[in-house]
Amino acid sequence: MTNSIQILGPRGNTLSVTATGSGPTLFLLHGFPLDQRLWDSQWSSLGQSHHVVAVHLRGFGNSTLDDASYTLADLAEDVEFLRRHLAGEEAIWLAGLSMGGYVAFEYWRLFPSRLKGLILTNTKPTADDEAAQQSRLAMGQKALEQGTWSAVEPLFAKMLSGQTQASRPEIVRLVKEMMQNVPPASIAAAQSAMAQRRDFTPMLPGIHLRTLVVAGQDDTIAPPEATRQWAQQIPGSQFEIIPASAHLSPLEAPDQFNQMVFKFLLG
Ligand code: MLT
Repeated sequence: MTNSIQILGPRGNTLSVTATGSGPTLFLLHGFPLDQRLWDSQWSSLGQSHHVVAVHLRGFGNSTLDDASYTLADLAEDVEFLRRHLAGEEAIWLAGLSMGGYVAFEYWRLFPSRLKGLILTNTKPTADDEAAQQSRLAMGQKALEQGTWSAVEPLFAKMLSGQTQASRPEIVRLVKEMMQNVPPASIAAAQSAMAQRRDFTPMLPGIHLRTLVVAGQDDTIAPPEATRQWAQQIPGSQFEIIPASAHLSPLEAPDQFNQMVFKFLLG
């Protein structure tokens, strides 16, 4: 069973999490343009041994946007506020998918002593070039002018592998529903924050934490070979590729993903 928790944030904003289980705390950060339901296949498995907390990032799920603009460092501050509230003095495991991974890198930069380890899935440490920044700002503008779905629809085809799209209608439905549910202002704010994100590539050798890096075999947003190369720069990190999965490995291949994470957490 999961609990939905809403907490008044430091700026009067509402921060929400979905949580289950007890034991060492594992925070989960979803990708864009999704919400905490990305982790629906993790509860029953990882919640058996861990206190699992899925954050609704600012403007997504039940967390309010409030300010029209924020940075990924602000989202890392939100995570720290929630960690203090829900885990006290305990250091946490932190898992992030794609945009959630960008926030996890920021959290590591700002609060390294609060971390036991990192799980970076379907993500990358690089910053955007100018063309990518412009296309993010254009998507944000389109969402504001024409609505969320017309702006984010081109991303849908990249989210799931061909196999998932052909054989898992419930996942196709869930992903579309998550994408359609995001308010246009949240699309614009997140794209602007991601466009300004820092390049973590030179900092990778400084990550002295247990780290698991996961890639989907068919992920074109965070391709596996590029992921292998940056993962090798994190000292002692573990790198895994999940077959038959594109950008949303925890949803598309939950058994393999959960086993990998479970082994890593208990290893
Ligand atoms: C995500 O899944 O969070 C996005 O693909 C991140 C991005 O747009 O870079």
